[in-house]
Amino acid sequence: MLDEDFAGYLRGFGPWALGILLTAAPGILLGQTTPVLHIQADQVTAHVSPSLYGLMTEEINYSYDGGLYGELVRNRNFKEDAREPVHWTLVRERGAIASMSLDPGQPFNSAVPTSLKLSVTQVTGAQSVGIANDGFWGIPVRPNTRYRATFYAKTDGGLSVPITVAIVSNDGATTYASALVSGVSGNWQRYEATLTTKDVKASADNHFVLSTNKPGTIWFGFVSLFPPTWNDRPNGNRKDIMQLLADMKPSFLRFPGGNYLEGRSLETRFVWKNTVGPITQRPGHYDDSWRYWSSDGMGLLEFLEWCEDLHMQPVLALYAGFGLRGTVRIKPGPELQPYVQDALDEIEYVTGSASTTWGAQRAREGHPEAFPLHYVEVGNEDSFDREPGSYDGRFTQFFDAIKTRYPQLQVIATAPVKGVTPDVIDEHYYRNSEDEMASHAHDYDTRPRTGPKVFVGEWATRVGVPTPNMSAALGDASWMTGMERNSDLVIMSSYAPLFVNVNPGGMQWRTDLIGYNTLNSYGSPAYYAQKMFSQHHGDDVLKVDAQSVPTREWQPPARRGAPGSTQPAARPAPEQVPTLFCDATRDSKNGAIYLKVVNRAGTPQPVKVELSGLAGIDASGQAITLSANSPEDTNSITEPEKVVPVSATVSGLGTNFTHTFAPYSVNVLILNGK
Ligand code: AHR
Repeated sequence: MLDEDFAGYLRGFGPWALGILLTAAPGILLGQTTPVLHIQADQVTAHVSPSLYGLMTEEINYSYDGGLYGELVRNRNFKEDAREPVHWTLVRERGAIASMSLDPGQPFNSAVPTSLKLSVTQVTGAQSVGIANDGFWGIPVRPNTRYRATFYAKTDGGLSVPITVAIVSNDGATTYASALVSGVSGNWQRYEATLTTKDVKASADNHFVLSTNKPGTIWFGFVSLFPPTWNDRPNGNRKDIMQLLADMKPSFLRFPGGNYLEGRSLETRFVWKNTVGPITQRPGHYDDSWRYWSSDGMGLLEFLEWCEDLHMQPVLALYAGFGLRGTVRIKPGPELQPYVQDALDEIEYVTGSASTTWGAQRAREGHPEAFPLHYVEVGNEDSFDREPGSYDGRFTQFFDAIKTRYPQLQVIATAPVKGVTPDVIDEHYYRNSEDEMASHAHDYDTRPRTGPKVFVGEWATRVGVPTPNMSAALGDASWMTGMERNSDLVIMSSYAPLFVNVNPGGMQWRTDLIGYNTLNSYGSPAYYAQKMFSQHHGDDVLKVDAQSVPTREWQPPARRGAPGSTQPAARPAPEQVPTLFCDATRDSKNGAIYLKVVNRAGTPQPVKVELSGLAGIDASGQAITLSANSPEDTNSITEPEKVVPVSATVSGLGTNFTHTFAPYSVNVLILNGK
């Protein structure tokens, strides 16, 4: 959360972060000698963790509402602002008289203690009057598309009215699709209609309207509009963004945060029990970590179904009694016990059979089968809890309770603890420049293998707004070579944040992997670098000796003085950071060797590649290259595919060959072992 504090957190991890370049890159020579990579195919130094590449997600940057979650109506239960029906406007044709207001006197249900009242005093048969929703930066219209509209309404006395639901352009000139629901009357009832567009041009400057041509009073309790979703899930996800994720072949999903898990109060944390059950019964909550309303349409079951849809395993983060920036800190012991129980209930919801209390609840919601679960995480970034012993005590209480009831689960800590030994520790690394990220690419080479396994649960080279540019992709790829090479230790990793809505006001945290607006989405160069690694991770890490690796000088940023110090920040000595990074893995099923090479330099980089310990290499292989003309080159909503990988056949390969890597490039060379 706080970059400055976070740097301190990272320093807390110990001395292994220092001096790595010297130990890990013994072959570094200054000068113009051609670098040599010697791959020893008979020396497997580690196995690539099958769960190395995954996703991390939370409600930030309009990740779900206005992002992945398919709902198109904003403020669908009128709770976003208790004072006025934000995102709703009254629409009426000339001569019609009507008003619209929130009506707490007519609550929709116990979770939604208000409704939207439309009072129509004067309207003639030819006119219409109604309520319009502006959506999340508009309502997306696509050609030949079916939308499912649902609403709950009731009327005054014995009134029965027709309601027209429609998607209309903001200038009022075009109605793209409409349907008539007749006989809206009586007490709260659900109504549904299908809207189908014709062969129109895609557009976003539209709104969703519910209107009538009869006088009287109508109350609306909940209004929803869904486009087609991934796997046709009724409460499902936007297809284009799901496709981008599916292409990454992620192995897990860490959810629901991040700071979103914690909130700044007990009410505004992720209260999972408020996110399950029918969407009309979910109260929603103000996400005070990122300061906007969350409908909680993306609730616990939807996260799990998202995992199911993309064949990812859930990594379930449990609320651990600590609020963002210490706003909540629950003492270990009896005070914490209800939260421990809440976490056990949550695990039962995920994994319990339909005969358990919470498994039965999941079954009632339409998912009788239990979900697989191997990892749970206790809290988020608890190094920010500076109270001595606090996280240690909280973690131990959760750990003991979870291990007693679910001994098969792996329990992840978010900060070092002493009371018990966590199975895995979650480390976060946000770096502010490509050089800084690259300077850490060898950190894990010398980390002792005596402690817990590592989950790099958040990491990113934060260069580029809103999404990372090529320079960031080069930093990220350099870092990924280090995680992959050390995958015996680093068993899981996930970039953060995953998403950003690029519309004005959509972003709370810069440098996010995937961008989108109301209609379109795109992957950043960093997204493509990850996809290249994840699609070619292999399962054996091969020993690589790198010699004559080129470097460039980098000036690390000044370090902050001790808290309260008036001394100027110390300026560390400049460092030499390699411009060439690599690692090699093999797919033992087919013998393919994946040589990943990152050339951060702005010039073509010839590299001699030597292989030993195998019968030979086919003369023909494949090169996948992500490169740019400048490190600032990037993708954007208007230029979504400026920097994308290209694939080409390469010939002349063998156990000794030279390949020239493009300037500013991330590369996977696929060598077919004989
Ligand atoms: O990724 C953005 C935020 O960074 C996460 O919510 C938090 O865990 C970290 O500080």
